[in-house]
Amino acid sequence: MTDAEILHYITTSDKAETEYLYARAREVREREYGLDVYFRGLIEFTSYCNNNCFYCGIRRDNAGARRYRLSEAQILDCCRTGDALGFRTFVLQGGEDPYYTDDTMAGIIRAIRAEFPGHAITLSIGEKSRESYERFYEAGADRYLLRHETANEAHYRAMHPAEMRLSNRKTCLYTLKEIGFQTGAGFMVGTPFQTPECLLEDLRFLQALEPHMAGIGPFIPASNTPFAGRPAGGEELTLKMVALTRLLLPRVLLPATTALGTLSPAGREKALLAGANVVMPNLSPPGVRTFYSLYDNKICTGDEAAECLRCMSLRIKATGFRPSMVRGDSRITFPPQTYPGGSGIALSRKLHKKAWQ
Ligand code: 5AD
Ligand code: FES
Repeated sequence: MTDAEILHYITTSDKAETEYLYARAREVREREYGLDVYFRGLIEFTSYCNNNCFYCGIRRDNAGARRYRLSEAQILDCCRTGDALGFRTFVLQGGEDPYYTDDTMAGIIRAIRAEFPGHAITLSIGEKSRESYERFYEAGADRYLLRHETANEAHYRAMHPAEMRLSNRKTCLYTLKEIGFQTGAGFMVGTPFQTPECLLEDLRFLQALEPHMAGIGPFIPASNTPFAGRPAGGEELTLKMVALTRLLLPRVLLPATTALGTLSPAGREKALLAGANVVMPNLSPPGVRTFYSLYDNKICTGDEAAECLRCMSLRIKATGFRPSMVRGDSRITFPPQTYPGGSGIALSRKLHKKAWQ
C-alpha cells in the first residue's frame, strides 16, 4: 500500500471502506492462523517504575499510584495457577523497577524455566542493555514485548521526559531481535499530539522492524498524570490500525488489547474481527490487580484467573473464533516444522533445543 492509500484508510469515516478493511484483515488472519486465538497469561509483577512517561498511570511522579512487588514465590504461584488452567505462555510485565536486578530477573526466569520447560516465557520490563537482554535469553526467556509507543521523533518528545530517547527504544527492539527473542513492538492510538502521519510512521516502522508481535491499543487517560484530562483514543481508529497492521504484516501476532476492552464493551471482539488473534488475560493475584493501573477504569481487575479465562473463551467462541491454549509461536521467522505435543507451529532450532532437551 502506498502512503496515500494508508493515510486514506486512517482518515476515512466511510463505513463501507472500514468494513472492507476489517474483512480483508480477517481474511489474511484466517489464511495465516486459521480461527485460533492464542491465550497469554499476564503477570503484572511490579507497579514501581523509574520512568515518567506523561501518559502512564504508574509513572514515577504519580504519588497517588499504589505500588506493589511480587516475590519470586508469588510469581511462580501465578505460573502454577496459569499452568493448571492450561496457559502455555507467561508474560512477566512490570514497570522499570531497579529492585529486580538482572540477577534477580535471571533467577526468576530460571525458576520458571525449570518448572515449565515447554512453556513460553515473555518479558515486558522495558529498556535494558544488550548484556541484560542476553542474560535473560540465556536464563530461558524466549519473547520480549517493548512497544515503541510512537515512531515519530517529535511526537515521542511530546509524550516523554527529556531523559528518554526514541532512538534507544528502537535500538533495544533491533537488539532483542538479533539476540533471538520473538519480539513485540507496538503503539497507542489517540495519544495527545498524534497525527495521521504519526500513525503512518508507526506502520512503516513496524514494516522495517518486522516484529513477531505488535501491541496496539487506544490511549486512555490516567488520573494524576500530565495527560489526565485528555480525550481517550477512538475505538474505530484503533480497529483500523489493527486491520492495517494485519494487512501490512500478515504473520504478526496481534493482541485484542485490554485497553480496547476498557474503552468499549465489545472492543476486544471487534479487534478479533479486524485481524487480531491473541488475548492476554490477567494471572496476577486479584489483590494487587487494581494497583497496576496504567490507565483509569481498567477491566478484568476483580476477576479470578479462572473466571477471566472462562469469560474470554466464551467471548471468543461467540465471535466465531476458537480459543487455543498452545504456545502460539510466531510464524514469521520459523519454518513449518512440528514438535512433540505442539501446535504445528514451529520453534527455531535454538528455542526447540532449549524447550525440549
Ligand atoms: N493508555 C493506554 N495504554 C497505556 N500504556 C501506558 N499508559 C497507557 C495509557 N494511559 C501502554 C503502553 C505500554 C503498555 C504496557 O501500556 O503502550 O507499553
Ligand atoms: Fe476478564 Fe471477561 S475477560 S473477566
